Amino acid sequence: MKAAFLRSVLRRGGGASASLIPRRRFSSEAAPARKVAILGAAGGIGQPLSLLLKLNPLVSSLALYDIAGTPGVAADVSHVNTRSEVKGYASEDYLGKALEGSDLVIIPAGIPRKPGMTRDDLFKINAGIVKSLCEGIAMYCPNALVNIISNPVNSTVPIAAEVFNSKGVYDEKKLFGVTTLDVVRAKTFYAGKANLKVADVNVPVVGGHAGITILPLFSQATPKANLGDEKIEALTKRTQEGGTEVVEAKAGKGSATLSMAYAGAIFADSCLKGLNGVEDVVECSFVQSSVTELPFFASKVRLGKKGVEEVLGLGPLSDYEQRRLEALKPELKASIEKGVAFVRNN
Ligand code: LAC
Repeated sequence: MKAAFLRSVLRRGGGASASLIPRRRFSSEAAPARKVAILGAAGGIGQPLSLLLKLNPLVSSLALYDIAGTPGVAADVSHVNTRSEVKGYASEDYLGKALEGSDLVIIPAGIPRKPGMTRDDLFKINAGIVKSLCEGIAMYCPNALVNIISNPVNSTVPIAAEVFNSKGVYDEKKLFGVTTLDVVRAKTFYAGKANLKVADVNVPVVGGHAGITILPLFSQATPKANLGDEKIEALTKRTQEGGTEVVEAKAGKGSATLSMAYAGAIFADSCLKGLNGVEDVVECSFVQSSVTELPFFASKVRLGKKGVEEVLGLGPLSDYEQRRLEALKPELKASIEKGVAFVRNN
């Protein structure tokens, strides 16, 4: 595949970098060796995410782990003629091998929603999965950056933090809940309503990653468009319910996989750029935070060589956003506490 073709396939809207293919500083040969492990690589998100990471020239080694099915996914993806070497690891016996030496671990493992379910309904099953995978990370690659996609993200990120804490390896700069899909949706919906070129649009999204805890800040969207209160409220609701829109359209066959993989690949790419010393890489993410009184919160984060370089503040909010911010806090607080309690009681 030609780089120019890849660039056109992978071009994305706005942000610090406009495509998964870095435009400056590194050619693929010059980029440092980076191992990325995907845990849950045979699943609905894991498979397209594996392909997208295989297309990323910042990755030199790609470890595809799942309880089953990864030999096939790895054989398939490995034929793509890009830089990284691909290995598949199936069953828990090989989790250590998959993780060893990883710079970045991405976790999409777990079950997806069915119509009528909230992300919190997945807690019972996914909490245990995330906990045991994080125990593996603590043991085999405690210095890796960790990107958590498994839902409910508002609880699974605190679960990961508690596991790392209990093993004495927690570094708050290295743990991220992936909320990029909320940003991707907010950009798409805003560009559509405001009749803007989607590639030019930026919208920060803060809070958490479930229903009303997702708070797009359309007052800070660029380019500016004067949409009026009603349209902004409708856009806010659509962004908050974007995941449910997909769950309902898939009618029992799961939740967002392709757009989630895209968002996960964008976020992973930014993490790798940060690790490699590219300057001014900023993404929204659910991280340990002192931006509000809650211990974890999504906001703009500057990424660097050690992970989080700086958690940026919320900036000026409209009255509507201020009210939505106060309204989301009790739910987000409860989800965080539920995750922490799960690890302490198990
Ligand atoms: C979503 C799920 C994957 O936002 O969290 O669609």
